[in-house]
Amino acid sequence: MEEEGSPCKEDEISAMIKDRSMIYLDIVKNYPCSFGKVTSKKERQTKNLCSQNLTYGEIVYSSIAEVFEFIKEEYGSFMKPGGTFIDLGSGIGKGVITGALLHEFEECLGVEILDDLYQKSTELREVFYDYMSKLLKKKSNPFDYSVIPEIKLYHADIIEFDWAHADFVLINSTCFDLDLMAKIYEKAKALKEGSYILTLTKKLPANDEFEMIFQAKKPMSWADATVNLYKKVK
Ligand SMILES: C[S@@+](CC[C@H](N)C(=O)[O-])C[C@H]1O[C@@H](n2cnc3c(N)ncnc32)[C@H](O)[C@@H]1O
Repeated sequence: MEEEGSPCKEDEISAMIKDRSMIYLDIVKNYPCSFGKVTSKKERQTKNLCSQNLTYGEIVYSSIAEVFEFIKEEYGSFMKPGGTFIDLGSGIGKGVITGALLHEFEECLGVEILDDLYQKSTELREVFYDYMSKLLKKKSNPFDYSVIPEIKLYHADIIEFDWAHADFVLINSTCFDLDLMAKIYEKAKALKEGSYILTLTKKLPANDEFEMIFQAKKPMSWADATVNLYKKVK
């Protein structure tokens, strides 16, 4: 039983998510979602690209953090530093920054097919490193990190790229078509048992290798979207 006046675990977790969400917003303050949208639209227009897969939108830090805390609480994963986070279709890098603020991952990867978005994500990575190196020098900071997670960004196609070693895969897949989702699933079969995949709106095709362990509507940059969380069970 909690003592009167002492915060319970849930309150501590929400306070931690709130604190880190403020830090996230401070890091990305000069890179609003509208900036990513315009950057993406310009490149698609110039190159005459019209695939729905390229539609731009962004995750919301606290929505992903709530799901991540669920994994820690229910499955005891990510209790020690390490592991690989990847955002498939990383845009200007907000998902990758999110990963690096959630946990002391060894590496946080982002893979983006549009060149201009990829270029902007490398800029945002510098903002992140600069901010975090100053913050971690302060005695009172909300992180227990001994090192800043390494952010690696790639201008590549997620279907060509090798992401079999990832422990946590984020896919902002609301606008991904069924063909791309089927290809992602084929590649995901190579992930280790015990790894996690989070998809937005679109589900993985029915299968017995990934168990859906959580589903809920959470705010994203455009509206609430269904978060589907899977764990690889074989
Ligand atoms: C909805 S946006 C998500 C951006 C970022 N993950 C976020 O949540 O802030 C989806 C991104 O996936 C990229 N994308 C689509 N197909 C891709 C592919 N085959 N390989 C790499 N990136 C892709 C798009 O260009 C777009 O930037």
